[in-house]
Amino acid sequence: MNATDIEELPGVGPATADKLKDAGYTDLMAIAVTAPQALADAAEIGASTAQKIIAAAREAADIGGFETGEALLEKRKFVGKLTSGAKALNELLGGGFETQAISELFGEFGSGKTQIAHQLAVNVTLPVDQGGLDGGTIWIDSENTFRPERISQMATALELDPDETLKSIHVARAFNSHHQMLLAEKAMEVAKEYNARLLVVDSMTAHFRAEYIGRGALAERQQLLNKHMHGLLRFGDVFNAVICVTNQVMAKPDAFFGDPTRPIGGHIVGHTATFRLYLRKSKGGKRIARLVDSPNLPEGEAVFLVDGNGVSD
Ligand code: GTP
Ligand code: MG
Repeated sequence: MNATDIEELPGVGPATADKLKDAGYTDLMAIAVTAPQALADAAEIGASTAQKIIAAAREAADIGGFETGEALLEKRKFVGKLTSGAKALNELLGGGFETQAISELFGEFGSGKTQIAHQLAVNVTLPVDQGGLDGGTIWIDSENTFRPERISQMATALELDPDETLKSIHVARAFNSHHQMLLAEKAMEVAKEYNARLLVVDSMTAHFRAEYIGRGALAERQQLLNKHMHGLLRFGDVFNAVICVTNQVMAKPDAFFGDPTRPIGGHIVGHTATFRLYLRKSKGGKRIARLVDSPNLPEGEAVFLVDGNGVSD
């Protein structure tokens, strides 16, 4: 059986397909990895029908295979490191922003998330021996905060040709979460042509936060974010690229007294991002980055500077 669409799964008629899609089960993978009862509830079908649908989706979806540790180590040899422009920040990250991984920048407004992303888009054009990846950038902009002028400034500060640098960056505005996910898919198609070694999604969570409001929408939002992030990870794997996503922090209901620094997206985002950097403002243009939840690096902090020239120590 080689269904490519959920409508082609046995037992899924048009009405069931609509219910599944409304519940966020928009592709085979989402169905393949779900629990029968959850699917039964979402589509208002019996548990045994749900089981059959899931079995068929598992057969049709490419759920991936097992790789040996040796093969994985071999793949790790190709992991590149992209300089942030600040030595302390690079050290915190074990040498720079890694390819084949998602790095999440989270923090309050003005903490430097978008500035770091701009700096990475400039630095990625540098040769490898200067901390770059000799490539370009695909930038998905959900908040309309990409600034070509800023790229020019940062490029000039590094004695790069600002026009050449701007040409290496391909930007698309994402108008809603669905559009954002489509752009991420589109990025897979054009990455080779653009020699993209960096994918920026700034902000990854803003649309999702604005569109899926309240407890009732939470499950669907998380499911879509999960799908989105796995798509991004695949981009990182296939093109040996750095994935840099930004995420705002949200206040808890008791934010006035509590810690107003919880990233949006909860467990899904936290567990899918490989590196999470929590950014906060300090005195005199200084910023502090804290590494949280890294698979192989100690937690720690680094101080860096954002000024007219960009990101530095
Ligand atoms: P949100 O997207 O609002 O959540 O914030 P963010 O974390 O993306 O903030 P962003 O990276 O845009 O940081 C904005 C800050 O960077 C400004 O408040 C300035 O302090 C600094 N900044 C941006 N551009 C310049 C510049 O040209 N010169 C200097 N000196 N600082 C700048
Ligand atoms: Mg920003």
